[in-house]
Amino acid sequence: MKAMIQTQLIAAKGGQLSSEDLQYVCQALAAGKLVAFPTETVYGLGANALDPDAVKRIFAAKGRPADNPLIVHIAAIKQVNELVTEFSKLARTLAEHFWPGPLTLILPASPQVPAVTRGGLPTVGIRMPCHPIALQILSASGLPVAAPSANTSGKPSPVVAQDVYEDLAGRIEVIVDGGPTGIGVESTVVLVKGDVIRVLRPGGITVEQLRQFAEVQVDPGAVAETPVQGPVLSPGMKYRHYAPEAPAVLVEGEAAEAVEKKVIELVQERLARGQRVGVMASVETCQRLREVLAPKDLPFVELMETSHRFDLAGIAANIYRCLRRFDHLAVDSIVMEGTTTGGIGLAIANRLRKAAGYNIVRV
Ligand code: TXA
Ligand code: MG
Repeated sequence: MKAMIQTQLIAAKGGQLSSEDLQYVCQALAAGKLVAFPTETVYGLGANALDPDAVKRIFAAKGRPADNPLIVHIAAIKQVNELVTEFSKLARTLAEHFWPGPLTLILPASPQVPAVTRGGLPTVGIRMPCHPIALQILSASGLPVAAPSANTSGKPSPVVAQDVYEDLAGRIEVIVDGGPTGIGVESTVVLVKGDVIRVLRPGGITVEQLRQFAEVQVDPGAVAETPVQGPVLSPGMKYRHYAPEAPAVLVEGEAAEAVEKKVIELVQERLARGQRVGVMASVETCQRLREVLAPKDLPFVELMETSHRFDLAGIAANIYRCLRRFDHLAVDSIVMEGTTTGGIGLAIANRLRKAAGYNIVRV
C-alpha cells in the first residue's frame, strides 16, 4: 500500500494568504506537490502544469481517467502565449472581457504543455480565475497551474475546504482554506472556431453574456437529457459526474407550480413505499412540503433548501453542498427540483441532469 501523505491545512485569514504561507504554497508547487485552493467557482486541485510527474499525481489522487484533460490556470493574459500556438482575435477578446472569471478557453496547445495535462489532446484549456487567493498563488508562483475540481472523480465538486478534505486527505500535500467559493458551479468551457463560440460545458459565464461577442452554439452534450454516446469534444462530458450515492430523479418544467406539484407527488409516492427521501428544492417548494406532508411522514424526509425559486445564482451556489450532504444522510432516494434554463440555469440543469443519471421527469 502507498504511504499516506500528511495533508496540511492552511487557513487564509481575511481572504488572503500571509506572505509566509504564500511562500510555502509556491515552494510546494515548484517542488511538484499538490495544492488545493479556492477559486470563484469551486476548489481546484493544483499542480505545476508543466511538470508531467506532478500532473500525473493529480490524476492518481482524484482517480480521474487519463483522457480527461485539465484546465491550466494563469494570473496574466500574457502567460497564454507560452501555452498555445494560436490565440485568435475572438478568443483574445473573450479573455480580455471575461478574465479574471469563470470562462475556460480551449486553444491549440504549444508543445511546451505536457500531453498528460492535455489528456493527450492537441488543445489546452486555459482560464484566469477571479479569486484573490487563487490569483495570489498564481502570480507569486509564476507558474501555470493545472487544476481540476478538487473532488474524487464522480463526486460533486467541492465548494468548501472541508469537502476537499473529505475526498483527498492523505492524498495531497496542502489544502488552502479560503472559505466557501462564490459561484458554486464550474467555469464555462468554450471552443472558439472561426467566428463561432461553441459552449462545451455551461458554467459561470452565461450563453447570453457570450452572445454579445459572437454567435454561440451550445454543444448537444452540454444540454443532453440522455447520457452522451460516441466521440465528444470535451471528454469530461462522457463521464458520470456529480453523483450522489442514492438514486435521484429530477423534475423539470417551465411552470414553477407544475414542477412543485410533481416534486410533492414523487416525494409522497416514495414515502408510501416506506423510503427515506432526500429532497433538494427551492425554499418555496420545501415550505409547501412542510405544509402538505403528514406529520408522521416528516421525520422520513430530508429537506435541502437551495434558495428562492427565482434566485438562480443562489441555487447554483448551493447545489453541490446539497448533493454532498445527501451522502451523509442515508436516504433511499432523492427528488430534485429543476430550474428554468436561462442564464446560469443552463449550468444548473447540466449538473442536475448528470446527478440524476438523466432520470428526468418533465412536466
Ligand atoms: O471552474 C472550473 O473550471 C474549475 C476550477 C477549479 O477552475 N475546474 C474544473 O476542472 O472544473 P475539471 O477538470 O473538473 O473540468 C474541466 C472540464 C472537463 O470537462 C474537461 O473535459 C474539459 O474541461 N476540458 C479541459 N481541457 C479541455 C480540452 N483541451 N478540450 C476539451 N475539453 C477540455
Ligand atoms: Mg470536475
